[in-house]
Amino acid sequence: MNKAAIDHPTLKQALTAYRGLREKLALWLQPDNLERLRPQLRFQTGVLAGFAFLAALLLGVADLSTRGVIAQRQQEDLQASLEQVVPADVHDNDLLTDTRAVADTQTSLGQPVTTVYLAKKQGQVSAICFKFVAPDGYAGPISLVMGVSRDGEILGVRVVAHIETPGLGDKIEITKSPWVLSFNGKSLDNLTVEQWAVKKDGGAFDQFSGATITPRKVVQAIKRGLDFFQAHRSEFIDAP
Ligand SMILES: Cc1cc2nc3c(=O)[nH]c(=O)nc-3n(C[C@H](O)[C@H](O)[C@H](O)COP(=O)(O)O)c2cc1C
Repeated sequence: MNKAAIDHPTLKQALTAYRGLREKLALWLQPDNLERLRPQLRFQTGVLAGFAFLAALLLGVADLSTRGVIAQRQQEDLQASLEQVVPADVHDNDLLTDTRAVADTQTSLGQPVTTVYLAKKQGQVSAICFKFVAPDGYAGPISLVMGVSRDGEILGVRVVAHIETPGLGDKIEITKSPWVLSFNGKSLDNLTVEQWAVKKDGGAFDQFSGATITPRKVVQAIKRGLDFFQAHRSEFIDAP
């Protein structure tokens, strides 16, 4: 720092204040002083509050510094999920940027607004995909993503998050069993309403041995996904 800057009155004042503060802190931290303060309740409370403030500050800094990375990873995860349910050859656009927000209370997709990703080939919508939730899994909500062709046939379904029991309900995951592939090609036209159920309930889809609740709830949620598609089809497919 050059001499002119050090001579600046405001800087001088700040330096004096800083030195005073440092001296006060050094005195306060003297072992004798701390020994005297330690039994006092307000000292204990102050130390506790100080640590709590420090912890909160560190958490805040950690949260701020990781937020961007987390958002980027979530975006990558989403892209990977969408790519699994909409084959690459049915679109030439970027699914993540061609979206519609659809408010829908009728078909209970487990969320008030559903983001619909439009798959387009040469400007024409060829398929759509969306995330939705089966709110009533055995252990908790099951998040899914589903791709539907413009004719209403399922192109693919994947479970993206769940807390079902390992070894029982988790066969809904593609990494655990191919069960979820049994929805490919299914639609409201090629199955009756009764067939949209697990076999134990008279439907077309397998349940798992000793675990009927999870697949039952997933089948019901996927059927609601198709109902949602049908209810809003013209908004996605026929819209310019
Ligand atoms: C510890 C424990 C965990 C279970 N986890 C699941 C599960 O994740 N999904 C499920 O459908 N059933 C689960 N079940 C079984 C259900 O309680 C229920 O018995 C079963 O879904 C009914 O299927 P079933 O008609 O084939 O017997 C679990 C049972 C126990 C005791």
